[in-house]
Amino acid sequence: MSDKKIALVTGANKGIGYEIAAGLGALGWSVGVGAREQTRRDAAVARLRDTEGVDAFGVPLDVTDDRSVAAAADLIAERAGRLDALVNNAGITGGGPQQPSSVDPAVIRTVVETNVIGVIRVTNAMLPLLGRSASPRIVNMSSSVGSLARQSGPGDETSTGPVAVAYAPSKSFLNAVTLQYVRELADTNILINCACPGYVATDLNGFRGVRTPQEGAATAIRLATLPDGGPTGGFFEDAGVVPW
Ligand SMILES: NC(=O)c1ccc[n+]([C@@H]2O[C@H](COP(=O)([O-])OP(=O)(O)OC[C@H]3O[C@@H](n4cnc5c(N)ncnc54)[C@H](OP(=O)(O)O)[C@@H]3O)[C@@H](O)[C@H]2O)c1
Repeated sequence: MSDKKIALVTGANKGIGYEIAAGLGALGWSVGVGAREQTRRDAAVARLRDTEGVDAFGVPLDVTDDRSVAAAADLIAERAGRLDALVNNAGITGGGPQQPSSVDPAVIRTVVETNVIGVIRVTNAMLPLLGRSASPRIVNMSSSVGSLARQSGPGDETSTGPVAVAYAPSKSFLNAVTLQYVRELADTNILINCACPGYVATDLNGFRGVRTPQEGAATAIRLATLPDGGPTGGFFEDAGVVPW
């Protein structure tokens, strides 16, 4: 087994996930670029390797597909025998508008399947590999729009996002799921946290975000590389703790 730290980032072919992979690579990690489509995955791996000097490798991975996720775990087991950090970054909004009174329930199912069940599926497949790491970390890419405190508080759309009955509650659900993992795994050395990247210009929002993907990646990179004894069961953005 290599001493080099190894990470898997889901949805790493573009946007924030790509920059998380680049950032971990710059710290000397070997990074599995989880991506579901071969051309986009190959292009991201080539760019990470050739222009950023990252020890990147492609991991075919659709978080909604049991067989794809199992094969991804096999690939990492064969390549490294363990996993030091899992960054569950892949996510979708489900498109809009998402008014509660008129939403198509199918949109909610699709978003939850990716943003919540996908995270559970990938995490469970990777837990045996994380268990073989000396300092395992799980980072779930959430969003402050999933903060019930902010949704119910006095803030405007800069803190709540627009009304989005599929996307925002999917992140609240993910936060709640994260805390269940934290409770179950309390006796292990796995540090598990949620990250919010801020409002980042990516495909997800038609590039309307105000932060760069690199800025958006910073909190997830910090949480993936926490020292032993670092926080677990938290929800963080650049400015500090996000209220649940
Ligand atoms: N951008 C923001 O302002 C913002 C704010 C808060 C939280 N976030 C969260 O940050 C994460 C990354 O978002 P982003 O802004 O970087 O969006 P993005 O540019 O649209 O990237 C999303 C990534 O997820 C992948 N993905 C989607 N469904 C997948 C599936 N079933 N299996 C595997 N990969 C899948 C996409 O792959 P394809 O290229 O194949 O579609 C893409 O690589 C998401 O969880 C998002 O909710 C973003």
